[in-house]
Order: sequence, then structure tokens, then C-alpha cells
Amino acid sequence: MKGVILAGGLATRLRPLTWVTNKHLLPVYNKPMIYYPLEAMARAEVKEVLLTSSSDHSGDFETLLKSGEEFGLQLFYAVQENPKGGIAEAIMLAEEFAQGERIVVILGDNIFNFDLRSAREKFEKRGEGAMVFGVRMPTESKQYGVIEIDSSGKVISIEEKPEKPKSDIAQTGIYMYDETVFDKIKNLSPSARGEIEVTDLNNIFVKEGTAICELIDWWIDAGTSHDELLRANNLVYEKVKAGEL
Ligand code: DAU
Repeated sequence: MKGVILAGGLATRLRPLTWVTNKHLLPVYNKPMIYYPLEAMARAEVKEVLLTSSSDHSGDFETLLKSGEEFGLQLFYAVQENPKGGIAEAIMLAEEFAQGERIVVILGDNIFNFDLRSAREKFEKRGEGAMVFGVRMPTESKQYGVIEIDSSGKVISIEEKPEKPKSDIAQTGIYMYDETVFDKIKNLSPSARGEIEVTDLNNIFVKEGTAICELIDWWIDAGTSHDELLRANNLVYEKVKAGEL
């Protein structure tokens, strides 16, 4: 399995912090934000990772992360020409890199501490499909994609930031896909906000009946607002001090 970390986007919600730098380079407690998904890949024993970002900051990532040796991985870089083309558009950049292998995608502003390696093993035992990761958020789920599941964990529907969420399960930015993912992305069109949406991609797997959801306990999307970035700093500090991250 190969890894893909997305670090594009414009991060307009974090201005003025992001006028001259990329949000994934901002500090979260004692490290740049991008370190957390990279360390998660390393813990999952994913050895080759493609990092995608926009052209104005891709050089900064290479300066910081170099070959990836510090993390025990081999890093590759790709540029997303349209920084707001959408998450699925950025995943598409990994087609050649994947070389027919399955991929695990992590959004560059996501921080979590669950055992991604076991999830990876479970996914690799499945013949086909996608695995999405959800977290129960009774009050805030409508700020995210919302996942509806049956009692076996099979996904019934995913809606992007719905007004009336069908469940309290928020879709995190961690996804595993079989090798059909790139052909599926090629059939997608931009949404009303002009992006090729990851939720539309995941819903193709849902329609096929091959999408399952794993529930995780603790996860933060550090990139949505100044308040969330501050909360991420404080929570990561607590987790690090407790030896949980
Ligand atoms: O974080 C979880 C949420 O991420 C999910 O619940 C949503 O279903 C999913 O659509 C996504 O929503 P956001 O609105 O939070 O996505 P955002 O635009 O903030 O981008 C998330 C990450 O993906 C961020 O690290 C930047 C990267 N990205 C985003 C876009 C739109 C790219 O690399 N390229 C892009 O074109």
C-alpha cells in the first residue's frame, strides 16, 4: 500500500497566518502540522508517500522534509496546479505513483492517534472497495462530511456538510482505496463550490456497496479555523504529555 498526503488548498479561513506560508507548515505544539500525518504513515508502515501541494509552496515542503528519511519513509512530491481543485483532484495526481497498488490518503491538516496499521491490515484483507474513518461528533458533525452506517459498519450514505445530518458521525480526512479509485475520479465533475469532491468519490464506492467505515475515538481537523488551530495545539500538548501521541 502506498500513501498520499494532501497539503494543497488556499487556507483562506486561517488568514492572515496563511498569507505567506502554507497552513500545513504552521506549528501545532512543537512541530509543523504536516509532521502528524507523516508520522501516522510511518506508524502504519507505509514506506512510500506522495505529498501534494500547490506550486507556490511545494519548494518549502521539500526544504523541510527532504527525502523523508527522518520519518523512515521515502517521500515524493507533486504539484496541484489549481490549489482549490478539490481533494479528489489532488488524489488523482497519485495515479502514476500508485502503480496499481492500493492507497491510503490522509489530509495534511488531520491529527489522530488510532492504530492505522491494524486498519490497513483489515483493509488489505478485503477484496475491494474503500474504507473511510468516522468520529462521533454529536454537535458539530454538520461542519464535515456526515457518514450514515448500518450495524455492520457498511456505509449507507455520505453527505458533504449537510444542513440536517443523518447521523452524528463526521467523515475524517483518512481514506483507503482499492486500485479502481483513479478510474472513479475520472468520472467526477466539479461540485457547486467548484471542487472535485472526496465525498462524491466515496459515494461511488457506497453505491457499489463496497464502502465500510471504521470509527475512531480522537481526531482533529486543525485547519478549519483559528479556534480549531488553537484547540489542536492545546489537545496535542495534552496528548504528548500523556504519552498518547
Ligand atoms: O477534514 C475532514 C473533512 O475534509 C471532511 O469531513 C469533508 O468531508 C471533506 O470534504 C473535507 O472538508 P474540508 O472543507 O475540511 O476540506 P478543506 O478544503 O479544508 O481541505 C482539507 C485538506 O485537503 C487540507 O489539508 C487541504 C487539502 N486540499 C484541499 C483542497 C480543496 C488539497 O490538497 N487540495 C484541494 O484542492
